[in-house]
Amino acid sequence: MTTAPDWQTRVGDVWAAEWQRTDRSFADFAPHLDAAILAVAPDHGRAADLGCGAGATSLAIAAARPGLAIHGVDLSEPLITIAGQRTADAALSNVHFTAGAVPGDLEPSYDLAFSRHGVMFFDHPVTAFRGIAAALKPGAPLVFSCFRSPAENAWASDTVAAVGGQFDSPDGYAPGPFAFADRDRIADLLATTGFTDITITAADYHYRAGEGADPVTDAIDFFRRIGPVARKLADTPDADRPALLDRLRVMLADRVRGGVLDFPAAAWIVTAHSQGSGQ
Ligand SMILES: C[S@@+](CC[C@H](N)C(=O)[O-])C[C@H]1O[C@@H](n2cnc3c(N)ncnc32)[C@H](O)[C@@H]1O
Repeated sequence: MTTAPDWQTRVGDVWAAEWQRTDRSFADFAPHLDAAILAVAPDHGRAADLGCGAGATSLAIAAARPGLAIHGVDLSEPLITIAGQRTADAALSNVHFTAGAVPGDLEPSYDLAFSRHGVMFFDHPVTAFRGIAAALKPGAPLVFSCFRSPAENAWASDTVAAVGGQFDSPDGYAPGPFAFADRDRIADLLATTGFTDITITAADYHYRAGEGADPVTDAIDFFRRIGPVARKLADTPDADRPALLDRLRVMLADRVRGGVLDFPAAAWIVTAHSQGSGQ
């Protein structure tokens, strides 16, 4: 479980330090999501990036829609700082970022909302999606992505298995990378929080975990800081950690192909439209 206070402190801080490797892990997926967003994005008006992180999706949409004003919102101050720096580096004038929470810090009357893998970390998804619906103009689109099941995401299931962990099915909702894995639950959630015209599409991609001169060490550095392996290692006594890391190294070394370490990854891309009532 990864909650709002985690993102405002240690988890957000690590994501800020690791933004280049997290963006790299999404690099093969980003074109699929960006295309789905651009398919419904207006040329003008205002859009919200929900849980924008270091801003990659905001920047891609802002570059493709220069007449659309993008507002990225995220709980993590360090991630917002990086997103702002990247905006300045890209010389984009139609995007700005604020530290804050969805839905409380959204503004009224957006023409579009989107999120790359941000929504499954909402502590209270019903409240959050009602607030998002209320912040959208009637009929305005929402597009987001999220992971499918751990079993379809070998970057998580195989690496966690290598360090002796497993994914338990929580009783009820628990915010985390796989909280939106169930397609029917996504559809029910959207239908009961003010959305209609719901489309949920599977997208498979390659999750780049390691590359460069030593892709295995690169991947270990990444996994031990971010994601479910990092959590399992943090819960492991110090004395037992080196043996688990050795097992992870052996598994990763066996998967290097063409000098890179890619894993199968699986996401949903979800499109819906606000009914306008905010329910
Ligand atoms: C997996 S990261 C994805 C970040 C970014 N969208 C990307 O693709 O790189 C999830 C992000 O959602 C943010 N987040 C989670 N709950 C949030 C909330 N209620 N309001 C705003 N941001 C939130 C976290 O701080 C984190 O940056």
